[in-house]
Amino acid sequence: MDPSSLTHSLLSLFVLLVLSPPTTGQLDYKFYDSTCPNLTKIVRYGVWSAITNETRMAASILRLHFHDCFVNGCDGSILLDDTSSFTGEKNAGPNRNSARGFEVIDAIKANVENSCPSTVSCTDILTLAAREAVYLTGGPYWSLQLGRRDGTTASQSAANQQIPSPFEPLENITAKFTSKGLEMKDVVVLSGAHTIGFAKCSSFKPRLFNFNSTGKPDPSLGSSLLKDLQGTCPDQDSSDSNLAPLDPITTNKFDNVYYKNLVSSSGLLQSDQALMGDSNSAAMVNNYNKYPYLFARDFGQSMVKMGSIGVLTGKDGEIRKNCHVVN
Ligand code: HEM
Ligand SMILES: *[C@@H]1O[C@H](CO)[C@@H](O)[C@H](O)[C@H]1NC(C)=O
Ligand SMILES: *[C@@H]1O[C@H](CO)[C@@H](O)[C@H](O)[C@H]1NC(C)=O
Ligand SMILES: *[C@@H]1O[C@H](CO)[C@@H](O)[C@H](O)[C@H]1NC(C)=O
Ligand SMILES: *[C@@H]1O[C@H](CO)[C@@H](O)[C@H](O)[C@H]1NC(C)=O
Repeated sequence: MDPSSLTHSLLSLFVLLVLSPPTTGQLDYKFYDSTCPNLTKIVRYGVWSAITNETRMAASILRLHFHDCFVNGCDGSILLDDTSSFTGEKNAGPNRNSARGFEVIDAIKANVENSCPSTVSCTDILTLAAREAVYLTGGPYWSLQLGRRDGTTASQSAANQQIPSPFEPLENITAKFTSKGLEMKDVVVLSGAHTIGFAKCSSFKPRLFNFNSTGKPDPSLGSSLLKDLQGTCPDQDSSDSNLAPLDPITTNKFDNVYYKNLVSSSGLLQSDQALMGDSNSAAMVNNYNKYPYLFARDFGQSMVKMGSIGVLTGKDGEIRKNCHVVN
């Protein structure tokens, strides 16, 4: 090979590796660098203004991303409205009157479409928004590979079956995580998201009055918190939609106080406090209580794992124009 053709081959290789957009079905850190350079700024601004209006929105967006990824992968399926051909996820048990933040994603999508039409998926927007939500409330920041494409269907029954319930045992929750390629460590780490946001009384009321059909409160619930919660959630159906903070100490700050609460028997959900009932998960809780930076690092790592569950890439799926409907 003469020098000029060698130079030429190296140049072609360079062009291939560096300049051409990824065509193989893979996520990429630079996926939108040339096609939507302002993407991160637009998403950050949208999440920032939503949180500035209502602090809780950070929590709601983070949870929306979780519920998207746990139902047939991160594919924006939770954002789809019901149609004549499928019943979507918005009215599934874990989401009905509970999942929120859709209008924030819509507003960001509108700004993104304005800047770079038909280029960025609703799924990537939701994934980025969840990261910004954590960062803007004082939590860690992590790098994200992008290029997720939007799914073309949604499933209410899959949402009912695959999203963990606060009333099932840790074993069952771990099994749901494992079936997504995650592990018990991710259950412990990602449950740390409950350091922000709120839960309805219906999500934990049996613990206050009739735990496990015993007619008594959950013995693993600290007594002063029990009194507070019984005040917020009187034993009648009309209190079902009242709200209690998941972390009453630093409700709007993404920190490791969630784990401190578990150590002092003050987890709100039965599934939260259950992390202290298994020696392996309890050891992790104790570590995250002691070492906030360890939690921050591990949370970012687990979010990256969760954000890559069952993603559609390459030519699969589509780039939705409107996050509510398939194109
Ligand atoms: C481990 C199994 C999990 C269970 C059983 C669970 C259950 C729940 C329940 C019952 C609520 C309250 C919903 C309501 O009453 O309206 C809630 C709220 C929340 N969850 Fe989880 N969750 C789990 C894991 C996660 C994960 C992995 C994340 C994110 C990484 C997350 C983020 C949140 C957030 C931020 C809220 C507050 C939402 C708001 O205030 O709008 N959860 N969760
Ligand atoms: C601001 O938050 C309130 C709820 O606290 C909500 O009703 C309203 O729609 C939000 N406004 C904007 C512009 O997001
Ligand atoms: C990105 O934002 C800058 C200013 O913030 C603007 O000048 C530029 O036109 C934007 N680019 C795109 C592709 O929208
Ligand atoms: C836990 O999982 C087992 C095995 O799948 C199932 O039989 C049981 O009903 C589940 N328990 C709860 C409370 O969901
Ligand atoms: C609930 O009660 C059943 C039967 O009385 C018992 O086997 C089970 O361990 C209890 N569950 C919890 C979480 O205490």
